[in-house]
Amino acid sequence: METSCRICSGPVKGSIDLGVQPRGNAFPKPDQLAGEFFYPLIVGMCDSCAMVQLMAEIPQEVRYHDEYPYRASNSTVHSEHFAGVARRLLRTELTGHDPFIVEIGCNDGVMLATVADAGVRHLGVEPSQEVAALARSKGVRVLPRFFDEETAGEIRAGHGPADVIFGANVIAHISHLDSVLKGAVTLLGPNGVFVFEEPYLGAVVEQTAFDLFYDEHSFVFSVSSIRAAARLFGLDLVDAEPLAIHGGSMRYTLAKRGARLPTAAVGELLASERARRLDRPATLVELNRRAERVRDELTALLTSLRADGKRVAGYGAPAKITTVTNYCGIGTELIPYVCDSTPSKQDRVVAGSHIPVVAPSVFREDRPDYAVLFAWNHAKEIMAKESDFAGRWILYIPEVHIL
Ligand code: TYD
Ligand code: ZN
Repeated sequence: METSCRICSGPVKGSIDLGVQPRGNAFPKPDQLAGEFFYPLIVGMCDSCAMVQLMAEIPQEVRYHDEYPYRASNSTVHSEHFAGVARRLLRTELTGHDPFIVEIGCNDGVMLATVADAGVRHLGVEPSQEVAALARSKGVRVLPRFFDEETAGEIRAGHGPADVIFGANVIAHISHLDSVLKGAVTLLGPNGVFVFEEPYLGAVVEQTAFDLFYDEHSFVFSVSSIRAAARLFGLDLVDAEPLAIHGGSMRYTLAKRGARLPTAAVGELLASERARRLDRPATLVELNRRAERVRDELTALLTSLRADGKRVAGYGAPAKITTVTNYCGIGTELIPYVCDSTPSKQDRVVAGSHIPVVAPSVFREDRPDYAVLFAWNHAKEIMAKESDFAGRWILYIPEVHIL
Protein backbone atom coordinates (compact mmCIF):
# COMPACT_ATOMS: atom_id res chain seq x y z
CA MET A 1 0.00 0.00 0.00
CA GLU A 2 1.28 3.49 -0.85
CA THR A 3 -0.29 6.92 -0.36
CA SER A 4 0.98 10.47 -0.59
CA CYS A 5 2.04 12.37 2.51
CA ARG A 6 -0.61 14.60 4.08
CA ILE A 7 2.06 17.22 4.73
CA CYS A 8 4.48 17.26 1.79
CA SER A 9 2.87 14.89 -0.78
CA GLY A 10 5.94 12.62 -0.68
CA PRO A 11 5.55 8.82 -0.89
CA VAL A 12 4.30 6.94 2.20
CA LYS A 13 4.52 3.15 2.30
CA GLY A 14 2.53 1.10 4.84
CA SER A 15 4.91 -0.43 7.42
CA ILE A 16 2.73 -1.29 10.41
CA ASP A 17 -0.43 -3.34 9.88
CA LEU A 18 -2.74 -3.45 12.90
CA GLY A 19 -5.58 -5.09 11.03
CA VAL A 20 -9.17 -4.01 10.63
CA GLN A 21 -10.12 -1.69 13.48
CA PRO A 22 -13.13 0.26 14.75
CA ARG A 23 -12.86 3.80 16.13
CA GLY A 24 -10.74 3.80 19.28
CA ASN A 25 -13.07 5.93 21.38
CA ALA A 26 -16.39 4.67 20.00
CA PHE A 27 -17.37 2.73 23.15
CA PRO A 28 -20.78 1.72 21.78
CA LYS A 29 -23.71 0.75 24.00
CA PRO A 30 -24.42 -2.99 23.94
CA ASP A 31 -27.48 -2.33 21.76
CA GLN A 32 -25.51 -0.22 19.24
CA LEU A 33 -23.28 -2.92 17.79
CA ALA A 34 -25.00 -3.36 14.44
CA GLY A 35 -23.46 -0.54 12.37
CA GLU A 36 -19.92 -0.42 13.79
CA PHE A 37 -17.45 1.42 11.53
CA PHE A 38 -14.28 -0.51 10.61
CA TYR A 39 -11.22 0.51 8.58
CA PRO A 40 -7.72 -0.90 7.92
CA LEU A 41 -5.28 0.52 10.50
CA ILE A 42 -2.04 0.77 8.54
CA VAL A 43 0.74 3.18 9.49
CA GLY A 44 3.57 4.49 7.35
CA MET A 45 6.37 7.08 7.35
CA CYS A 46 6.85 9.63 4.57
CA ASP A 47 10.07 9.02 2.66
CA SER A 48 10.61 12.77 2.27
CA CYS A 49 9.62 14.48 5.54
CA ALA A 50 9.59 11.44 7.92
CA MET A 51 6.06 12.21 9.15
CA VAL A 52 4.45 9.07 10.60
CA GLN A 53 0.81 8.88 9.56
CA LEU A 54 -2.26 6.69 9.18
CA MET A 55 -2.80 5.57 5.63
CA ALA A 56 -6.62 5.54 5.77
CA GLU A 57 -8.72 8.71 5.78
CA ILE A 58 -11.38 8.63 8.52
CA PRO A 59 -13.97 11.40 8.25
CA GLN A 60 -13.55 13.64 11.31
CA GLU A 61 -17.32 13.89 11.77
CA VAL A 62 -17.37 10.14 12.60
CA ARG A 63 -14.64 10.75 15.13
CA TYR A 64 -15.63 13.67 17.36
CA HIS A 65 -19.28 13.02 17.95
CA ASP A 66 -21.14 14.86 20.71
CA GLU A 67 -20.80 11.91 23.05
CA TYR A 68 -17.00 11.83 22.62
CA PRO A 69 -16.10 10.17 25.96
CA TYR A 70 -12.52 11.37 26.56
CA ARG A 71 -12.16 13.69 29.56
CA ALA A 72 -8.78 15.32 29.95
CA SER A 73 -9.40 16.01 33.66
CA ASN A 74 -9.92 12.36 34.53
CA SER A 75 -6.44 11.82 35.87
CA THR A 76 -5.13 13.99 38.70
CA VAL A 77 -1.63 13.76 37.22
CA HIS A 78 -2.97 15.21 33.96
CA SER A 79 -4.96 17.94 35.70
CA GLU A 80 -1.89 19.05 37.62
CA HIS A 81 0.23 18.90 34.48
CA PHE A 82 -2.08 21.23 32.57
CA ALA A 83 -2.51 23.67 35.45
CA GLY A 84 1.30 23.81 35.45
CA VAL A 85 1.41 24.43 31.68
CA ALA A 86 -1.05 27.31 32.11
CA ARG A 87 0.96 28.87 34.93
CA ARG A 88 4.14 28.63 32.89
CA LEU A 89 2.59 30.22 29.79
CA LEU A 90 1.16 32.99 31.98
CA ARG A 91 4.65 33.61 33.37
CA THR A 92 6.63 33.38 30.12
CA GLU A 93 4.51 34.26 27.07
CA LEU A 94 1.36 35.98 28.32
CA THR A 95 3.07 38.92 29.98
CA GLY A 96 2.50 41.81 27.57
CA HIS A 97 -0.42 44.23 27.42
CA ASP A 98 -3.77 42.37 27.26
CA PRO A 99 -2.32 39.05 26.05
CA PHE A 100 -4.46 36.51 24.19
CA ILE A 101 -4.21 32.71 24.10
CA VAL A 102 -6.14 30.30 21.91
CA GLU A 103 -6.35 26.62 22.75
CA ILE A 104 -7.12 24.13 19.99
CA GLY A 105 -9.26 21.32 21.44
CA CYS A 106 -9.62 22.73 24.94
CA ASN A 107 -11.57 19.59 25.99
CA ASP A 108 -13.13 20.16 29.44
CA GLY A 109 -11.06 23.28 30.10
CA VAL A 110 -8.38 21.50 32.11
CA MET A 111 -5.71 24.02 30.97
CA LEU A 112 -7.70 27.18 30.18
CA ALA A 113 -9.54 27.20 33.54
CA THR A 114 -6.27 28.39 35.15
CA VAL A 115 -5.90 31.09 32.45
CA ALA A 116 -9.53 32.16 32.98
CA ASP A 117 -8.95 32.36 36.74
CA ALA A 118 -6.00 34.67 36.08
CA GLY A 119 -8.32 36.97 34.11
CA VAL A 120 -6.32 36.57 30.88
CA ARG A 121 -8.04 36.77 27.48
CA HIS A 122 -8.48 33.32 25.99
CA LEU A 123 -10.56 31.25 23.63
CA GLY A 124 -10.93 27.49 23.52
CA VAL A 125 -11.77 25.97 20.14
CA GLU A 126 -13.62 22.73 20.84
CA PRO A 127 -16.05 20.94 18.49
CA SER A 128 -17.36 18.37 20.99
CA GLN A 129 -20.40 19.99 22.63
CA GLU A 130 -20.45 17.96 25.84
CA VAL A 131 -16.84 18.69 26.83
CA ALA A 132 -17.25 22.32 25.64
CA ALA A 133 -20.12 22.66 28.14
CA LEU A 134 -17.85 21.36 30.92
CA ALA A 135 -15.21 23.93 29.94
CA ARG A 136 -17.81 26.72 30.02
CA SER A 137 -18.88 25.64 33.50
CA LYS A 138 -15.30 26.44 34.60
CA GLY A 139 -15.55 29.98 33.21
CA VAL A 140 -13.73 29.19 29.94
CA ARG A 141 -14.81 30.91 26.68
CA VAL A 142 -15.39 28.31 23.97
CA LEU A 143 -15.91 28.50 20.22
CA PRO A 144 -17.61 25.23 19.17
CA ARG A 145 -15.63 24.65 15.97
CA PHE A 146 -12.86 22.65 14.33
CA PHE A 147 -9.65 24.68 14.08
CA ASP A 148 -8.41 25.31 10.55
CA GLU A 149 -7.20 28.19 8.40
CA GLU A 150 -10.69 29.65 8.07
CA THR A 151 -11.45 29.51 11.81
CA ALA A 152 -8.03 31.08 12.49
CA GLY A 153 -8.90 34.00 10.19
CA GLU A 154 -12.22 34.55 11.93
CA ILE A 155 -10.64 34.48 15.38
CA ARG A 156 -8.00 37.01 14.31
CA ALA A 157 -10.67 39.28 12.82
CA GLY A 158 -12.79 39.08 15.98
CA HIS A 159 -10.13 39.07 18.72
CA GLY A 160 -6.87 40.21 17.18
CA PRO A 161 -3.58 38.27 16.95
CA ALA A 162 -2.73 35.53 19.44
CA ASP A 163 0.37 35.52 21.62
CA VAL A 164 0.05 31.79 22.13
CA ILE A 165 -1.77 29.01 20.34
CA PHE A 166 -1.73 25.88 22.46
CA GLY A 167 -2.80 22.31 21.84
CA ALA A 168 -2.31 19.11 23.81
CA ASN A 169 -2.99 15.64 22.51
CA VAL A 170 -5.01 17.14 19.71
CA ILE A 171 -2.73 18.50 16.96
CA ALA A 172 -1.61 15.00 15.95
CA HIS A 173 -5.30 14.11 15.71
CA ILE A 174 -6.02 16.61 12.97
CA SER A 175 -5.68 15.08 9.51
CA HIS A 176 -5.75 18.56 7.92
CA LEU A 177 -2.55 19.50 9.77
CA ASP A 178 -1.50 21.60 6.77
CA SER A 179 -4.52 23.86 7.31
CA VAL A 180 -3.77 24.07 11.05
CA LEU A 181 -0.21 25.26 10.33
CA LYS A 182 -1.48 27.83 7.84
CA GLY A 183 -4.03 28.87 10.46
CA ALA A 184 -1.26 29.32 13.03
CA VAL A 185 0.58 31.66 10.66
CA THR A 186 -2.64 33.64 10.15
CA LEU A 187 -3.55 33.91 13.82
CA LEU A 188 -0.19 34.42 15.56
CA GLY A 189 1.16 37.89 16.26
CA PRO A 190 4.72 38.62 15.01
CA ASN A 191 6.36 37.17 18.15
CA GLY A 192 3.62 34.67 18.96
CA VAL A 193 4.24 30.96 19.48
CA PHE A 194 2.38 27.81 18.60
CA VAL A 195 3.02 25.33 21.43
CA PHE A 196 1.76 21.78 21.32
CA GLU A 197 2.49 18.54 23.11
CA GLU A 198 1.76 15.17 21.58
CA PRO A 199 2.82 11.52 21.97
CA TYR A 200 6.40 11.19 20.78
CA LEU A 201 7.53 8.76 18.08
CA GLY A 202 10.73 8.08 20.03
CA ALA A 203 8.69 6.87 23.01
CA VAL A 204 6.36 4.79 20.81
CA VAL A 205 9.34 3.05 19.20
CA GLU A 206 11.27 2.60 22.44
CA GLN A 207 8.28 1.13 24.30
CA THR A 208 6.74 -0.77 21.39
CA ALA A 209 3.61 1.26 22.14
CA PHE A 210 1.78 0.16 19.02
CA ASP A 211 -1.52 0.77 20.85
CA LEU A 212 -0.96 4.50 20.49
CA PHE A 213 -2.06 4.03 16.89
CA TYR A 214 -5.81 4.40 16.46
CA ASP A 215 -8.12 6.39 14.23
CA GLU A 216 -7.77 9.67 16.11
CA HIS A 217 -4.00 9.71 15.94
CA SER A 218 -3.63 10.77 12.32
CA PHE A 219 0.08 11.41 13.00
CA VAL A 220 2.81 10.53 15.46
CA PHE A 221 5.26 13.42 15.57
CA SER A 222 9.01 13.58 15.91
CA VAL A 223 11.34 16.56 16.09
CA SER A 224 12.52 15.83 12.53
CA SER A 225 9.04 15.62 11.02
CA ILE A 226 7.70 18.67 12.87
CA ARG A 227 10.70 20.73 11.83
CA ALA A 228 10.10 19.74 8.21
CA ALA A 229 6.35 20.42 8.41
CA ALA A 230 6.88 23.81 10.09
CA ARG A 231 9.34 24.89 7.40
CA LEU A 232 6.94 24.04 4.61
CA PHE A 233 4.38 26.48 6.01
CA GLY A 234 6.61 29.42 7.01
CA LEU A 235 7.27 28.49 10.62
CA ASP A 236 10.43 27.53 12.55
CA LEU A 237 10.72 24.87 15.22
CA VAL A 238 12.35 26.92 18.00
CA ASP A 239 12.12 24.55 20.96
CA ALA A 240 11.39 20.93 21.80
CA GLU A 241 11.01 19.50 25.27
CA PRO A 242 10.51 15.82 26.19
CA LEU A 243 7.62 15.14 28.61
CA ALA A 244 6.78 12.05 30.66
CA ILE A 245 3.01 12.44 30.24
CA HIS A 246 0.96 9.94 28.17
CA GLY A 247 3.81 7.44 28.27
CA GLY A 248 6.25 9.83 26.55
CA SER A 249 5.37 13.06 24.76
CA MET A 250 7.22 15.99 23.22
CA ARG A 251 6.31 19.67 23.56
CA TYR A 252 7.09 21.59 20.37
CA THR A 253 7.28 25.38 20.08
CA LEU A 254 6.91 26.94 16.63
CA ALA A 255 7.39 30.62 15.82
CA LYS A 256 7.09 32.64 12.65
CA ARG A 257 10.08 32.26 10.37
CA GLY A 258 13.07 34.18 11.69
CA ALA A 259 11.27 35.52 14.78
CA ARG A 260 13.14 33.45 17.37
CA LEU A 261 16.39 31.51 17.56
CA PRO A 262 16.08 27.74 18.08
CA THR A 263 17.24 26.45 21.47
CA ALA A 264 20.12 23.99 21.74
CA ALA A 265 17.59 21.24 22.55
CA VAL A 266 16.33 21.27 18.95
CA GLY A 267 19.72 20.38 17.48
CA GLU A 268 20.46 17.84 20.19
CA LEU A 269 17.14 16.05 19.70
CA LEU A 270 17.56 16.04 15.91
CA ALA A 271 20.96 14.39 16.27
CA SER A 272 19.57 11.84 18.70
CA GLU A 273 16.69 11.03 16.33
CA ARG A 274 19.11 10.47 13.46
CA ALA A 275 21.20 8.16 15.64
CA ARG A 276 18.06 6.19 16.61
CA ARG A 277 16.93 6.14 12.97
CA LEU A 278 13.61 7.73 13.90
CA ASP A 279 13.60 9.36 10.46
CA ARG A 280 13.78 6.00 8.64
CA PRO A 281 10.74 3.96 7.51
CA ALA A 282 12.69 0.75 8.34
CA THR A 283 12.25 1.65 12.03
CA LEU A 284 8.49 1.21 11.63
CA VAL A 285 8.95 -2.16 9.93
CA GLU A 286 10.94 -3.29 12.96
CA LEU A 287 8.26 -1.89 15.32
CA ASN A 288 5.67 -3.92 13.42
CA ARG A 289 7.70 -7.08 14.10
CA ARG A 290 7.84 -6.33 17.81
CA ALA A 291 4.09 -5.62 17.91
CA GLU A 292 3.46 -9.04 16.37
CA ARG A 293 5.53 -10.62 19.12
CA VAL A 294 3.53 -8.82 21.83
CA ARG A 295 0.31 -9.96 20.16
CA ASP A 296 1.41 -13.59 20.08
CA GLU A 297 2.72 -13.59 23.65
CA LEU A 298 -0.28 -11.78 25.14
CA THR A 299 -2.84 -14.08 23.55
CA ALA A 300 -0.77 -17.13 24.53
CA LEU A 301 -0.56 -15.93 28.15
CA LEU A 302 -4.29 -15.16 28.43
CA THR A 303 -5.21 -18.44 26.79
CA SER A 304 -3.06 -20.44 29.20
CA LEU A 305 -4.42 -18.54 32.23
CA ARG A 306 -7.93 -19.38 31.08
CA ALA A 307 -6.94 -23.04 30.69
CA ASP A 308 -5.65 -22.93 34.29
CA GLY A 309 -9.02 -21.59 35.48
CA LYS A 310 -7.60 -18.19 36.47
CA ARG A 311 -9.85 -15.13 36.46
CA VAL A 312 -8.55 -12.17 34.44
CA ALA A 313 -9.94 -8.63 34.20
CA GLY A 314 -8.89 -5.54 32.28
CA TYR A 315 -7.97 -2.28 34.02
CA GLY A 316 -8.52 1.04 32.24
CA ALA A 317 -10.34 1.57 28.97
CA PRO A 318 -8.26 4.14 27.10
CA ALA A 319 -8.62 4.27 23.32
CA LYS A 320 -5.55 2.01 23.28
CA ILE A 321 -7.61 -0.95 24.50
CA THR A 322 -9.52 -0.88 21.23
CA THR A 323 -6.33 -1.24 19.18
CA VAL A 324 -4.82 -3.97 21.37
CA THR A 325 -7.89 -6.14 21.77
CA ASN A 326 -8.89 -5.96 18.10
CA TYR A 327 -5.32 -6.49 16.89
CA CYS A 328 -4.84 -9.49 19.18
CA GLY A 329 -8.35 -10.87 18.71
CA ILE A 330 -9.03 -10.69 22.47
CA GLY A 331 -12.72 -10.77 23.43
CA THR A 332 -14.82 -11.56 26.50
CA GLU A 333 -13.68 -15.21 26.44
CA LEU A 334 -10.22 -14.04 27.58
CA ILE A 335 -11.11 -10.75 29.35
CA PRO A 336 -14.74 -10.77 30.59
CA TYR A 337 -14.75 -7.08 31.57
CA VAL A 338 -12.57 -4.00 31.97
CA CYS A 339 -13.03 -1.35 34.64
CA ASP A 340 -12.62 2.37 34.05
CA SER A 341 -13.33 5.39 36.24
CA THR A 342 -14.88 7.43 33.40
CA PRO A 343 -18.68 7.36 33.94
CA SER A 344 -19.39 8.04 30.24
CA LYS A 345 -17.53 4.84 29.27
CA GLN A 346 -19.27 2.61 31.81
CA ASP A 347 -22.17 0.39 30.71
CA ARG A 348 -20.69 0.50 27.21
CA VAL A 349 -18.37 -1.95 25.49
CA VAL A 350 -14.97 -1.68 23.79
CA ALA A 351 -15.63 -1.24 20.06
CA GLY A 352 -15.02 -4.36 17.99
CA SER A 353 -13.94 -6.64 20.84
CA HIS A 354 -17.14 -5.89 22.81
CA ILE A 355 -15.54 -6.22 26.25
CA PRO A 356 -17.94 -4.54 28.74
CA VAL A 357 -16.67 -1.46 30.61
CA VAL A 358 -17.66 -1.38 34.28
CA ALA A 359 -16.95 0.83 37.31
CA PRO A 360 -13.75 0.21 39.35
CA SER A 361 -15.98 -0.87 42.29
CA VAL A 362 -16.92 -3.99 40.28
CA PHE A 363 -13.23 -4.87 39.93
CA ARG A 364 -12.63 -4.37 43.67
CA GLU A 365 -15.52 -6.66 44.63
CA ASP A 366 -14.65 -9.28 42.00
CA ARG A 367 -11.01 -9.69 43.10
CA PRO A 368 -9.70 -11.37 39.92
CA ASP A 369 -6.40 -13.29 39.86
CA TYR A 370 -4.88 -11.08 37.14
CA ALA A 371 -5.51 -7.62 35.71
CA VAL A 372 -4.27 -6.51 32.30
CA LEU A 373 -3.27 -2.86 32.63
CA PHE A 374 -4.50 -1.18 29.46
CA ALA A 375 -4.07 2.33 30.92
CA TRP A 376 -0.35 1.58 31.21
CA ASN A 377 0.60 5.24 30.96
CA HIS A 378 -1.13 5.73 34.33
CA ALA A 379 0.50 2.66 35.93
CA LYS A 380 1.87 4.48 38.99
CA GLU A 381 -1.36 6.28 39.81
CA ILE A 382 -3.51 3.18 39.27
CA MET A 383 -1.31 0.74 41.18
CA ALA A 384 -1.16 3.16 44.10
CA LYS A 385 -4.95 3.50 44.05
CA GLU A 386 -5.40 -0.29 43.85
CA SER A 387 -2.79 -1.21 46.46
CA ASP A 388 -5.38 -3.61 47.99
CA PHE A 389 -5.45 -5.66 44.79
CA ALA A 390 -4.14 -9.11 45.76
CA GLY A 391 -3.85 -10.43 42.19
CA ARG A 392 -1.06 -9.73 39.72
CA TRP A 393 -0.74 -7.08 37.04
CA ILE A 394 -0.14 -8.04 33.43
CA LEU A 395 1.62 -5.44 31.30
CA TYR A 396 2.24 -5.74 27.57
CA ILE A 397 4.34 -2.60 27.12
CA PRO A 398 7.25 -2.66 26.26
CA GLU A 399 6.81 -6.46 26.25
CA VAL A 400 4.46 -8.94 27.90
CA HIS A 401 5.34 -9.34 31.58
CA ILE A 402 3.67 -10.09 34.91
CA LEU A 403 4.27 -7.90 37.96
P1 TYD B 1 -5.78 8.02 28.70
O1 TYD B 1 -4.47 7.35 28.67
O2 TYD B 1 -5.87 9.29 29.45
O3 TYD B 1 -6.34 8.31 27.27
P2 TYD B 1 -6.35 7.67 25.81
O4 TYD B 1 -7.77 7.22 25.65
O5 TYD B 1 -5.99 8.83 24.98
O6 TYD B 1 -5.36 6.53 25.70
O7 TYD B 1 -6.89 7.02 29.26
C1 TYD B 1 -6.75 6.48 30.52
C2 TYD B 1 -8.03 5.76 30.89
O8 TYD B 1 -7.84 5.14 32.14
C3 TYD B 1 -9.22 6.69 31.03
O9 TYD B 1 -10.36 6.12 30.40
C4 TYD B 1 -9.46 6.78 32.54
C5 TYD B 1 -8.87 5.49 33.03
N1 TYD B 1 -8.34 5.60 34.38
C6 TYD B 1 -8.93 4.83 35.39
O10 TYD B 1 -9.89 4.09 35.15
N2 TYD B 1 -8.43 4.95 36.67
C7 TYD B 1 -7.38 5.77 36.95
O11 TYD B 1 -6.94 5.84 38.11
C8 TYD B 1 -6.77 6.53 35.89
C9 TYD B 1 -5.61 7.43 36.16
C10 TYD B 1 -7.29 6.41 34.62
ZN1 ZN C 1 6.00 14.11 3.87
